[in-house]
Amino acid sequence: MTTNGALHIRNVSKRYRVQDSEVHVLDNFSLSIKPGEFVSIVGLSGCGKTTLLRHIVGLEPEYDGDIIFNGSRLDGPGLDRGIVFQDHRLFPWLTVEKNVALGLVGRSEKEKGKLVASHLELVGLKGFEKSYPHQLSGGMSQRAAIARALVNQPEILLLDEPLGALDALTRMYMHREIERIWQEEKITMIMVTHDVEEAVYLSDKIVVMSAKPGRLQKVIPVPLARPRDRASLDFVEVKEAVLEEFMLHTEHHFAYSI
Ligand SMILES: Nc1ncnc2c1ncn2[C@@H]1O[C@H](COP(=O)(O)OP(=O)(O)OP(=O)(O)O)[C@@H](O)[C@H]1O
Ligand SMILES: [Mg+2]
Repeated sequence: MTTNGALHIRNVSKRYRVQDSEVHVLDNFSLSIKPGEFVSIVGLSGCGKTTLLRHIVGLEPEYDGDIIFNGSRLDGPGLDRGIVFQDHRLFPWLTVEKNVALGLVGRSEKEKGKLVASHLELVGLKGFEKSYPHQLSGGMSQRAAIARALVNQPEILLLDEPLGALDALTRMYMHREIERIWQEEKITMIMVTHDVEEAVYLSDKIVVMSAKPGRLQKVIPVPLARPRDRASLDFVEVKEAVLEEFMLHTEHHFAYSI
């Protein structure tokens, strides 16, 4: 078995108890991710995407199955994994640099200063160290959240619809930025998105999930050279393939729920 940075999710199932009943959220979910891969997850709202990320980041220590990272079963959070949520979750009363420094654990003040500065530069926020969140645009706030998640130099960055609140042009710009950061940091990225084009632009492979309970429906590889041309025939073909797979279960879902 490869242990170096590889993530193996094996037969993971999760049920939540809600009052007197159980909600079956993840069912026998298995997936392997190579170190340095960019993987996107798409699926209907409520199919368990965020729950899956919460398991990987270690916020759901009790689950059936195994999530093996670097050869060990995950059962809690660790500095080797960082997460960015859809809303940036920056503290409004702290400056950008203080928000980013907050994520740093066990470093001297000098080291902290260096790491914060280099990560703000990495995400293109040099010059905004002393700004407060309300002085930033949506894209800048998400960059700050990415810097905060990367400052501990994790091996895996989890992104839960990180660009969902941004306008279309800013999103396209942020796609290039996320690709650049991924290439510079050489880490694994796992992104949940509702935007199939975004998934095709960024990913090495796309995971389509089906709903209720959340299962792995299909893994679609994206063997296109980077940077990708959204208008190219190859790009459009992969996008169509993902949409087709997505619609398969979506139509079934709506046929029985409306
Ligand atoms: N702590 C919890 N307790 C009970 N049920 C939960 C809990 N967390 C999630 N769920 C349920 O699990 C299901 C999946 O939720 P999850 O947030 O993972 O979906 P999602 O795929 O991320 O959806 P979206 O695309 O809307 O963000 C939902 O039905 C939700 O109500
Ligand atoms: Mg979610």
